[in-house]
Amino acid sequence: MVIAAQENGAAPDSARTFPEGFLWGSATASYQIEGAASEDGRTPSIWDTYARTPGRVRNGDTGDIATDHYHRWREDVALMADLGLGAYRFSLAWPRIQPTGRGPAVQKGLDFYRRLVDELLDKGIKPVATLYHWDLPQELEDAGGWPERATAERFAEYAALAADALGDRVKTWTTLNEPWCSAFLGYGSGVHAPGRTDPVAALRAAHHLNLGHGLAVQALRDRIPAASECAVTLNIHQVRPLTGSAADADAVRRIDALANRVFTGPMLRGSYPEDLLKDTAGLTDWSFVREGDLQQIHQPLDLLGVNYYTPTVVSEADDSGTHASDGHGRSDHSPWPGAGRVAFHQPSGDTTAMGWAVDPTGLYDVLRRLASDFPELPLVITENGAAFDDYADPAGQVNDPDRIAYLRGHLAAVHQAVVDGADVRGYFLWSLLDNFEWAHGYGKRFGAVYVDYPTGTRIPKASARWYSEVARTGVLPGA
Ligand code: FCB
Repeated sequence: MVIAAQENGAAPDSARTFPEGFLWGSATASYQIEGAASEDGRTPSIWDTYARTPGRVRNGDTGDIATDHYHRWREDVALMADLGLGAYRFSLAWPRIQPTGRGPAVQKGLDFYRRLVDELLDKGIKPVATLYHWDLPQELEDAGGWPERATAERFAEYAALAADALGDRVKTWTTLNEPWCSAFLGYGSGVHAPGRTDPVAALRAAHHLNLGHGLAVQALRDRIPAASECAVTLNIHQVRPLTGSAADADAVRRIDALANRVFTGPMLRGSYPEDLLKDTAGLTDWSFVREGDLQQIHQPLDLLGVNYYTPTVVSEADDSGTHASDGHGRSDHSPWPGAGRVAFHQPSGDTTAMGWAVDPTGLYDVLRRLASDFPELPLVITENGAAFDDYADPAGQVNDPDRIAYLRGHLAAVHQAVVDGADVRGYFLWSLLDNFEWAHGYGKRFGAVYVDYPTGTRIPKASARWYSEVARTGVLPGA
């Protein structure tokens, strides 16, 4: 059934029922919530180092304590159970499990995740584990980081340790979270750890992240039950042209290659896009891609995780200094190596506290495009949500109508995409808790649950109660 295009992503006026078995969850990441940065053998990751470097993170914030989830995990699982959530996507901290990025696992690190997973299962919440949400052991960065091939090999060894310890109870795995950010913000614009600004290193990192993904999927498959699922999470950019000009269409093509197809090409099709290789030929001949790499990377997947927040609007630019406004942080260095002259534009309309435009049609379009490009691959929204300037009122309540409106609009878009044929299996709200928002520190609150940082107290926001009802019933209420 096709519903009129103007309804795509709009707030529904009648209730929408999601398919039976649709997963309703929330998501977090280790460095953003755990704290306990030097407990039980954990060593620094690139984010510890980056956060401790003056000027990198707003206000000098670090993940040293974060939401103290390492100590409060039982309370956090109880919160999810109270909210009636069916699934929880979390990430494993590599430096907690394998502190130097090499050698045997630290049992205390694994025990933390064993206990967490057991508690989730006990409460009927499906655990979805991400192997890498950006906290590379610092020792591996010191040895060259993701631009080096050895990091991909180390990643597969770490994946094997995680699978050996947790493969009997975690049935859904995702390898990498948003490798675009790891490669291009970490090594290109430098607004993420490790903060390097080398366009060739960024492209090398992208390839070795791809390779790490493929090797890790194989390591997982060798160890986990056949019925378990392997996935990757990509922040597929919905790239739109500012005008209908041919020049703007070509700017879209170039950004789409660097944002999306540099990952979907090798992972899902087994090759790098020709146009990407051409666009970047002035920087590298890609000779770091060795024979056989593409076969290693191109592994069958059970699910594709999609993170979506806002669309990207571009045009051909008349100079090359306009990349700083692409919504990914300020830097004099571009996260788009080889893209040439591209200007990024703020779409009109409401924005979140991140300055990101609220536009659910972007999510609808991403899902429809993926469903058409990869019709056999089920999708899951592994992140979607919004930051707003939330505060607890004198009565201790946190009212966040803007977040409810954001979620309502985006869930309507997901539902519409499903109605129009996209095979979407679940939705994970980013985030369960307010947390360390990378270079923005604790200044941006994405949680459905408010965290009072000085005390660690958790207060479910109005949006948490609203989402809880949707999760329990599987029905998005009418407006
Ligand atoms: C995504 C990250 C996640 C969080 C959200 C807001 O890019 O995966 O950790 O920071 O953005």
